[in-house]
Amino acid sequence: MALLTKAPKGTQDLLPKQSWQWQIVEDVLVREGESYGFAEIRTPVFEHTELFQRSVGETTDVVQKEMYTFEDKGKRSVTLRPEGTAGAVRAFLEHGLYNDGLPAKLYYLTSCYRYENTQKGRLREFHQFGAEVFGAADSSADAELIALASDMFECLGIRGLRLELNSIGCPKCRANYHAALKEYFAGHQEQLCGTCLERLARNPMRILDCKNPECAKLAADSPTIQEYLCNDCRDHFEHLKGYLDHAQISYTVNPRIVRGLDYYTRTVFEFISNDLGAQSTVCGGGRYDGLMKEMGGPDTPALGFAIGLERLMMILQAQEIAMPDRPACEIYIAAIGERAQKKAFALVRELRQAGVAAQFDICARSIKAQMKYADKIGAQCSMVLGDNELDTGRAVLKGMKSGKQCEIGINESFLHDYVHTYTNMLESPEFEEIEG
Ligand code: HAM
Repeated sequence: MALLTKAPKGTQDLLPKQSWQWQIVEDVLVREGESYGFAEIRTPVFEHTELFQRSVGETTDVVQKEMYTFEDKGKRSVTLRPEGTAGAVRAFLEHGLYNDGLPAKLYYLTSCYRYENTQKGRLREFHQFGAEVFGAADSSADAELIALASDMFECLGIRGLRLELNSIGCPKCRANYHAALKEYFAGHQEQLCGTCLERLARNPMRILDCKNPECAKLAADSPTIQEYLCNDCRDHFEHLKGYLDHAQISYTVNPRIVRGLDYYTRTVFEFISNDLGAQSTVCGGGRYDGLMKEMGGPDTPALGFAIGLERLMMILQAQEIAMPDRPACEIYIAAIGERAQKKAFALVRELRQAGVAAQFDICARSIKAQMKYADKIGAQCSMVLGDNELDTGRAVLKGMKSGKQCEIGINESFLHDYVHTYTNMLESPEFEEIEG
């Protein structure tokens, strides 16, 4: 077959077996989020470009190199969202949700777009579960958010994740830190890449997140923010650690975490897995107390995280965490002749309305082909209808694996109950053939 085209580089199709597993995982995340008081928000897949330039930051890799930005037909610059926080903040402000009582807790399940060099766990279209808390300045909010992520991983049965934690201070302490970084990197300018040379003047902290190996080597020996934290930021961080200790959530302080987006203040954290290869961060987040004001809203503290769903699924697979199979068709009703076909149509509808997963032939195929298809889709039991069954009102229900069978009345008002009961019984070892 010569296909016209294939899926674009860095994108992934989710085929039915995988999308079923994604639904199960998403359901766990949503249920856990809802138990913490989070409600869903859905925002557009594209936004005005300036939203991301201002929030994610002009000097980040995301804005400088990775955004899918284009002019629409009205000559407006729009960008496919590279992450979910900016859109959630924009919508929160635009709709005045701060009047509904704070803190506000929002979650989203969303696709994101970054034009990255693709590799294992690094795609151009990927998906996030994100959680954002607006209007909570206390370090107990940071602890609660981290506990939520941790509980989600636990609910999914994931083992061995490492929580790394840091505080990157506030604009007040950042000023002194920037000066120290400038001094350090200015002494090694010849080793910096072109982008980082520009960052040196505008935002030296961004050099710490550069993917260029030379810059990364230099960054490893640079001063850390810890020595520059002001008393308020230090207290906030100490209290957070106290909460985590009390809740027995283990973490390591990694003074090198800066995160790849500019909006962070104070707490930043990442959950790291050894099952992912080079792209080992499955969840990243932190506090961004300055963003609401930067976006033109009231001064509102905020914090959040996002879990990368592709990476989450990779961990589940690597750890061989069992997932239930997609529910098979419970009964396939095969028909011989038009009269039986009409009855089959009526019966599957009746069964479906009662919650039984039932199917019948919609391709006008022979009985042999119908049974072959029933087998292929993994139907649990089958029933063949012909003139005889219609005349007597009775048909044989057959377990597809066991081959065991029983007869049931097809015009009974509790047909669905019979199908449920017998489907299970026909596949059980104790069952002997019975008359329904
Ligand atoms: P982020 O660290 O850029 O943070 O992304 C969060 C997670 O999304 C990563 O830990 C990773 O699992 C996944 N991810 C990121 N880029 C890719 C990619 N190219 N391919 C596959 N997965 C990827 C944020 O996006 C912030 N908005 C998180 C946040 C929410 N902070 C506060 N609130």
